[in-house]
Amino acid sequence: MSESVNIGTVEDIDEGEAKVISAGDNGTGEDIAVFHAEDGNFYALNDNCTHETASLADGWIEGTEVECPVHSAKFCLKSGTALCMPATIAARTHKVEVQDGRVLLFPNVSAAV
Ligand code: FES
Repeated sequence: MSESVNIGTVEDIDEGEAKVISAGDNGTGEDIAVFHAEDGNFYALNDNCTHETASLADGWIEGTEVECPVHSAKFCLKSGTALCMPATIAARTHKVEVQDGRVLLFPNVSAAV
């Protein structure tokens, strides 16, 4: 079984907001952003935009997409797919589960699409 990181309760991240789990805390070597999307679900992507350097957690969530705050590329929160220029490389996904009101991040386990 994969190891998970308990990142808090569902109330800790408001819908439309994101929380960064630092590389040191998640063990992957990259910061991970956990998003509470407008569909009510939680999704996780590597926080750094695949275009240049920007925190996707600082971007804008619309539905199940996030828009980069620097050059406005959009990524699908479910698959990590880059949906528009200037990003062409998908963001890496990580599995997130909610169990008994706790949000569990599974670093290095891809989200099932
Ligand atoms: S840094 Fe994100 S679109 Fe350029």
